[in-house]
Amino acid sequence: MSEQPDADATIEARLHEQDYFRPPAKFVGQANASDPDIYDEVGEFPDGFEQYAELLDWDERWDEVFDGSNPPFFEWFVGGKLNASYNCVDRHLDERKNQTALLWEGSDGEQENITYQDLHRRVNEMAAALRSQGVEEDDVVTVHLPMVPALPITMLACARIGAPHSVVFAGFSASALAERVDSADSDYVVTIDGYYRRGEFLDHIEKTDEALEEMDRDPQVLAWSRHEEPSDEVSDDYTDVESLLDEHERERVEPVSRDAEDPLFLMYTSGTTGKPKGCQHRTGGYLAYVAATSKNVLDIKPGDTYWCAADIGWITGHSYIVYGPLALGTTSVMYEDTPDHPHKGRIWEIAERYDVDIFHTSPTAVRMFMKWGPEYPEEYDFDFRHMTTVGEPIQPEAWLWYYKHIGDEDAVIVDTWWQTETGGHLITNLPALEDMKPGSAGKACPGIEPALVDDGGEKLEPASGKAGNLIIERPWPSMLQTVYGNDERFISTYWEDFSDTDSDDWTDWNYKAGDGAVQAQDGYWRILGRLDDVMNVAGHRLGTMELESAVAEVEKVAEAAVAAREDAEKGEVPDVYVVVREGVEETDAVKEEIVAAVEDEIGKFARPANVIFVDDLPKTRSGKIMRRLLENISNEQELGDTTTLRDPSVPEQIRDQMHGD
Ligand code: PRX
Repeated sequence: MSEQPDADATIEARLHEQDYFRPPAKFVGQANASDPDIYDEVGEFPDGFEQYAELLDWDERWDEVFDGSNPPFFEWFVGGKLNASYNCVDRHLDERKNQTALLWEGSDGEQENITYQDLHRRVNEMAAALRSQGVEEDDVVTVHLPMVPALPITMLACARIGAPHSVVFAGFSASALAERVDSADSDYVVTIDGYYRRGEFLDHIEKTDEALEEMDRDPQVLAWSRHEEPSDEVSDDYTDVESLLDEHERERVEPVSRDAEDPLFLMYTSGTTGKPKGCQHRTGGYLAYVAATSKNVLDIKPGDTYWCAADIGWITGHSYIVYGPLALGTTSVMYEDTPDHPHKGRIWEIAERYDVDIFHTSPTAVRMFMKWGPEYPEEYDFDFRHMTTVGEPIQPEAWLWYYKHIGDEDAVIVDTWWQTETGGHLITNLPALEDMKPGSAGKACPGIEPALVDDGGEKLEPASGKAGNLIIERPWPSMLQTVYGNDERFISTYWEDFSDTDSDDWTDWNYKAGDGAVQAQDGYWRILGRLDDVMNVAGHRLGTMELESAVAEVEKVAEAAVAAREDAEKGEVPDVYVVVREGVEETDAVKEEIVAAVEDEIGKFARPANVIFVDDLPKTRSGKIMRRLLENISNEQELGDTTTLRDPSVPEQIRDQMHGD
């Protein structure tokens, strides 16, 4: 992370531009987006985006496509009314009620084929169950569920009754759950007794138990069961979802007609400050944009079997496992466990079994498959037409491996750049229309206008090959509406730096992505990574400050700073530099306590790679910790500028300490 734009002005000279790969003719011949006019048509702002909204069924058509009168609170498809659950479920019943909507594979090979008709029944029953517990329109329902059908069913049930969901990734700890329940003013938590990880049954309800003790609110808890019999571990205070569903068997709940601008969900994500932000997404613009990008970028057709091997607990799963694919009426695959369980060929075994056409994963997963070796995919007979990567930059080497060993040099690859905040893809190729270039996300999506600015906000020449801060100059339908309950933070995080915040003219407002990027001469964008104190661990976004405040919970710690270390597999991993309090011995037990604190506060996926004891941290004269220097140390790079340090010898001392000199 943190590649400095100015330092990288000549990046093109350092990084060799890769050769292009043409999309296979058999792909081009059948692609959804095959007419280059789409760029001009959708680029006609704002009316071009109407063709996206027209992919949906509306109860009432919008009066105005875009209202930019109160920047940066932009509105889309104003006056329109629709229901997301209706669009993802009910409207497919006429044509494909017996087609599988969700194809779920459990840890031990257990399978569930949920047809659109089944999904309709189950979503209705869950919607009735939620209502029976008092959930009303606009109540935020926190959903803490793993990769089991209960998760998309709960989301769609919430959408049906107009209750925004706030899904908290199952790997988050009790503390993280508690924080998000409080922050979202949520009075309902939907959880489950447990799920399987590497074949072992993992108690999940204990996180809800602990979270309830930590949170300020006192929400009602609804608990699903992973097996038919509810587990004894579940508190009697919690409502058993399965019994509730029995009570509401075959009940129908009329989908609530929502304003296009009514929120569909919140998704918490890390930022530069300690507390995660609740990105609030609207119903109409979001659903229209994810349906359109699922169609045009992912090339999804109703008859396809599509598998995005992400977790629904992150934005990728919301947009491209649940809402986009189901809005198009396709078959979306879900898998409960890890790719190496019970063997390293599991992913390819599933791909073969279900005859998956379109496959979607992260560069971290590709690097892992690469490390395991091509013999695993070679054992299985699967044939992808289309493959996606998302979440981190993919190195050309990993891209080439994916292309050759997974795609058999016969599938297109799209490298999709976007964020929790953007709702859907913003930079990536339309696969039939552009050639692929390993390591580049490609061109901007139709209607999207990225640009680069220097730190002073001056725009760089387009396609200059120089690095800068990535901004988006024009609003788009799936952009976040605000940070839940905190409009000021919305403005200060995403707009203030590169907009004229006094202006009422929306064209003076630029969305700041927080990433560094380069646009090559051919117009292709390469994303360099975050420029703020956010790291990307195996495609998961983690705030440095969040990690540091977790470490600070350990009493023995006087001071701590976290730096991102580059990692061949996970992209980045956190290194924690710690100064212990007077009289505390620097032992492995203290290190373990620090690691445990991070796991407790955030979750196991955020586990630090190294805890490094130091005597002092590098600080400026005003006392600010210079994390960039720690990053240089973690990555064994030349030290950056040390002249502003209060004690310029500190970084060298740390290096010596690390090497035990
Ligand atoms: O740094 C960029 C990186 O992931 C960040 C967004 O993280 P998150 O909100 O968790 O969403 C991840 C899934 C969309 C971005 O600011 N990122 C995302 N996609 C790419 C990427 N970096 C390089 N290439 C990508 N394709």
